[in-house]
Amino acid sequence: MIIVSPSLLSANFLNLEKDVEMFNKSNAQWLHYDVMDGNFVPNISFGPQILEQVCTITDKFIDVHIMVANPLETIDYFEKCRIDMLTFHYEAVSGLEECNAVIDKIHEKGIKAGISLKPKTPVEELKPILHKIDLVLIMSVEPGFGGQKFMPEVLSKGDWLNSYRVENDLDYLIQIDGGINYESGKMAVEHHCDCLVAGSYCFNNSVNFNHGVDSLLSLKK
Ligand code: DX5
Ligand code: ZN
Repeated sequence: MIIVSPSLLSANFLNLEKDVEMFNKSNAQWLHYDVMDGNFVPNISFGPQILEQVCTITDKFIDVHIMVANPLETIDYFEKCRIDMLTFHYEAVSGLEECNAVIDKIHEKGIKAGISLKPKTPVEELKPILHKIDLVLIMSVEPGFGGQKFMPEVLSKGDWLNSYRVENDLDYLIQIDGGINYESGKMAVEHHCDCLVAGSYCFNNSVNFNHGVDSLLSLKK
């Protein structure tokens, strides 16, 4: 079963409660929450206070993607939020030692740890930490904004991550984020992605939110 994680970045911020309720009633399993700091990425989104309130109106899985330059400190800002998965960027840490420290800190808080890669970062660089990670997020656009065009050149990362997972008997999930719609989602699933993040395709869907979610859920591995 494919996991669909609609990205709240594309919701209507003037009516966030209504959009979260629409998500609650849908078949989407996860809610994707993009945190941008205006430093690691050239945009600022929302932070812990809004998430704390959002968490009070949904019981579903909270999937947080932090696009910040200081992941180690940022984890603490979310102390009061009920988070299930916390995904940080490999490019935001200074090396393997810091990378391990971030993963350990997330796990110590009882949260699953994900690691994300910008489109140009080679996936093989993750080898030393793949045994301790719960999810790898393949960015299929440059992080920072919703509504960008899908980059098919990242799809081979899904193949590599799946082969490595099978060969080493690991169980991390493969997630993809950026420009996902039915066509790109189908390609992503063919390249072994387990979880599809979709912002504009769900929240600005030409039919309705449920149509976007259900069309992605219908994709078969
Ligand atoms: C972009 C964010 C994405 C964004 C996806 O940096 O990480 O989660 O919300 O939006 P769409 O699906 O519209 O590309
Ligand atoms: Zn995201």
